[in-house]
This record gives sequence, structure tokens and C-alpha cells, in this order.
Amino acid sequence: MTLRVLFCLTLACILAAAADIPHLQKTGTATQLIVDGQPFLALAGELNNDSATSLEFLEPIWPRLVQAKINAVLVGVSWNQIEREEGKFDFHVLDGVIQGARSHNLRLVLLWFASWKNSLSSYPPDWVKRDFERFPRAQVEGGKSIELLSPLSDANRDADARAFAALMRHVKEVDGREHTVIMIQLENEVGMQGDSRDRSPAANRAFAGPAPKELMDYLQRHRDTLIPEFRQVWEAAGFKTSGSWEEVFGRSRVTDGIFMAWYYARYIGKVAESGKAEYPLPMFVNAALYAVGRGPQPPASGGRPWDSIMDVWRAGGPQIDMLSPDAYNDFAEFCAKYTQSGNPLFIPEALNGSVGAARVLYAFGRHDAIGFSAMGAVERSTAPDTDLIASYDLIAQLTPLILAHQGDGTMSAVLLGPNDPPQKIRLGNYTLEAAFIKPRTAPLTRPTEIPPNTFAAAIFINTGPDEYFVAGSGVTVTFSVNTPGPPLAGLATVEEGSFVDGRWAGGRLLAGDNTEEGEILQLLWAPGSWVPTYRQRASSHAIQRVTLYRYR
Ligand code: DGJ
Repeated sequence: MTLRVLFCLTLACILAAAADIPHLQKTGTATQLIVDGQPFLALAGELNNDSATSLEFLEPIWPRLVQAKINAVLVGVSWNQIEREEGKFDFHVLDGVIQGARSHNLRLVLLWFASWKNSLSSYPPDWVKRDFERFPRAQVEGGKSIELLSPLSDANRDADARAFAALMRHVKEVDGREHTVIMIQLENEVGMQGDSRDRSPAANRAFAGPAPKELMDYLQRHRDTLIPEFRQVWEAAGFKTSGSWEEVFGRSRVTDGIFMAWYYARYIGKVAESGKAEYPLPMFVNAALYAVGRGPQPPASGGRPWDSIMDVWRAGGPQIDMLSPDAYNDFAEFCAKYTQSGNPLFIPEALNGSVGAARVLYAFGRHDAIGFSAMGAVERSTAPDTDLIASYDLIAQLTPLILAHQGDGTMSAVLLGPNDPPQKIRLGNYTLEAAFIKPRTAPLTRPTEIPPNTFAAAIFINTGPDEYFVAGSGVTVTFSVNTPGPPLAGLATVEEGSFVDGRWAGGRLLAGDNTEEGEILQLLWAPGSWVPTYRQRASSHAIQRVTLYRYR
């Protein structure tokens, strides 16, 4: 075998191995997470912060995660736990966590709780916490230090990056073939606290200095595709391409946030780089969010990875693959905001229960989400979360269809509250009008009595010129034509059913009452305490296969 052939074979193996580790891949307008060579939808749950620091504590939780139809678990990895002494690493607990997940056929997303957790620094090792000269803290107005490692300190950054590189080197050693670990979250909900920016001497010097050339070059290169809110800030100050931070972005708390975002992104970007050099898994940062449309707009971020300053995070931390919203409120708005300019949507933290159950359909169907994760899944409710379990089961059934239709405009979804107006969705040859279900009979259930935090949701997948799969709960759907030909649309055959091992298993053929005499599709699936209006006619099937016909 010639040297040349040997070299090519070796190279092919290296590339195959690299291509085989979990990674992100574009498909049309969507980005998919590829695990073991196949696109993967994460139906996830995040454990409470410190649950994965004790294997005994985790023991009873694994089976409950499996019962909850979860396929990926977000678990915290504490810097303090893996590097109690500087340069000495202990991964025995992490190894147990990976083993536990593997033996329950679960994937893991590791949350690197290191320099910052909810802004502050409670997870660095004691040797970092104690040596505040070597590892400086951020300061607020008046020069008062807070328990927040300054993102302007190279020493803080390098210590974090060294530990993170050791972690990723170890994960590759113990999981480089099995791929139990599929993604990494870097830090947790970073952002300045107690002031709009760090006011330590180093930060003040940097703030008084010029805005970095790299940032300005990035902004000029992307001037026409910048996030509108951010572009407005830069425009308002005259689109300057050099000068101090305040000269370039104006004098405001928003500018303080842009300044902090640059330094957080640089810091975390370097940490990601050190880890990816060892094992390049997809890496994201999660964001604690703001109230949409309420309070000063744009809100002052403190450097948080908010949609409005996504460009700054991109310019400062290109090694970071996604900015991910912890979307507890304003869900639909944040899904739209965090899918701007091609940012893949992964939701690390969200509500569970009936609200989560509705939102998960919307995230996958409307925004090609990579994954949805309920915060405190199985740990924050003693009783099984029947709503979310049912919704995860539904998505699991639909996964082959969803993955086949991500990114090509043949799939959509709605998320509706009782008082929301119907939504029109153009999908294939028809326009769908989806509305929150109104009771047909039983006057006692007038919509106004429905609790406000009730959501109906449905996912629509266009599988043929006149065929759709529709799934969800609490929604009615009418169809109208949007292409030349006979002007009227009618429901031809409506079959409820489910997917069993990827194969359609049809049940009742619906017409009459169940389709308002052939006029309206009704999603009457009531897995739990979702939409209470029509319990007497609930269906045990969430999915309907619909074919349409046209006439005049
Ligand atoms: C958001 C954080 O990201 C989580 O780790 C947790 O602290 C929740 N808030 C509150 O439990």
C-alpha cells in the first residue's frame, strides 16, 4: 500500500470521525443537530442546578426522565467540582452522570457552570474565589466589587478556558464514540448585575478607549443585515466607524450593554475555542430575557446574549454556535427574535405543564427548533407532567415528518390564547385559518372563562398537493385555495391516527359533527388539562391526516 493511499485513508478516517461527532448542519433555511449521522430533535428537560453533582441524588431521577418521554437531559457541570485544586481535575462524578444517561438511553447537554451562573460567580473553585487580586471582580458605581468575575480579565478567562479544555478533552476520551453528550452550554445566563456595566478600573479604561476595530469591521461588513434594533442604535449615533464606545453608539445604558456584550462574547468565545480544540461539539449560550414591549426599549442588556445585540455576540464570539433564549414568557415573540439572521433555535429553559405542552409544538413546527427543554423537568412536579409527556410523545411520533420538512417552507404551527385572533398560514396550495377552539354547545364554557394562561397549539405539515398532517389541541382549521383552479376547498378525507414506529396507523374517519359537516377541522385531542372546552368530545388521537378537494 503506497504512502499516498495510506495518507488518504487516514485522512478519510479523521474526516469521517469529525463528521460523525454531534454537529450542526444546515438544511434549507433550518439548522439541524446531527447525532450519530442522523438529525435529532431534543425533547429535553433541565435538571435543577446541582442535581448532577451527586450520583446518589440522581439515581431515582433517571427512570422518571425516561417516563417523561425525555430524550436529552440538560445537566450542570460545576467548575468547583471538577477542579477543586488548581490544575488537578476529577471527573468521576461526570463519568457517573454519562454512564447513568447512557444506561437509560438518554443524551446529555452539559451546562458549564463556571465563571458565571445567573450573572454571579458561585461556581468557580475556592482558589479562584479567594484570590480576588489574581481573579478580579466586576465593580458597580462607586467602585464596590460584586461577586461577579470581571469579563475583562484575561486571568479569569484563561483559568476558565483551561478547565473547560480539560473537561472537553475528558468528554472526548470517555464519550468520543458513544456521543451521549451532544451539546454544551457555556456558562449560564451571563450579564452584568447591579449596574449597566462593569466599572472596575480595567473596565473604565477600556470603556474610555476606542471601540474595537474588529467590532467596527464586522459591523461595516454586515451593515445591511444587522438586527434592526441594533442598527438603529448605531445609525442614531451616525454610523461612525471609529471612536470611543459612546461616540460610536451614543451615551446610554444600551451602549454600556453593548460594551459588556463585546467582552462577554470575547471571553466565552475563547473558552469555547479552547474546548473545541479538544472536542468540537456544538456550543451555545443561554439568555435570561426581558419583558417584550414593556419598559425602556431597547432594554439595557448588561451584556446579556439578547436578540437585539446578537451581532455584537457574533462579532466577539464567532466560536459560539447559537444564542438560546430561556423563554419562560412572550414565547412566540422570543422564538421569532432568536431565529433572526439564521440563529438556530434551541430553548434550554421553558415552562412545563400545559403551557409547555403547547409551546413545544410551536417551537418545532413554526421555527424549526433543534430542541425544547422544560426547566426542572420531573424534579419540580411530584406527579407526572401528563400534558408535557403527551406533547413530547406527539413530537416523537412526528419526528421523521418534522425532520423531513424542516427548512423548506412546508411546515408551520400556531400558538393561540383564548383571546387571540385566528391566524392565516399560507402552506402549499392552500391557506389555513387556525383559531382557538370555540365551544359548539354547553354554554357554561364560554371562552371568557378559560384561564388566561391557556394555550392551544397545532402543527401543520404539507405532505402533498392536497394533503396535510395536522396535530395538536384546541384549534379549529379551515382551508381556502391560494392557487389558480376551482375556487372552493373542501375536506375530502379526514383520518385521525398516530404514528407507530414511524408508520401511519389510521383510526376513525372523521366527518359530520367532528368536522362541522365537512367544513372545519377540529383538533379535539385533550391529553391532560389543556383546553377544557370540549372534554365531552375529546379524542385520544392528536394527529389527523387530511386530504382536500377543490370545486366550484
Ligand atoms: C434560570 C437559570 O438559568 C436556572 O439555572 C435557574 O436558576 C432558574 N432561572 C431558576 O430556577
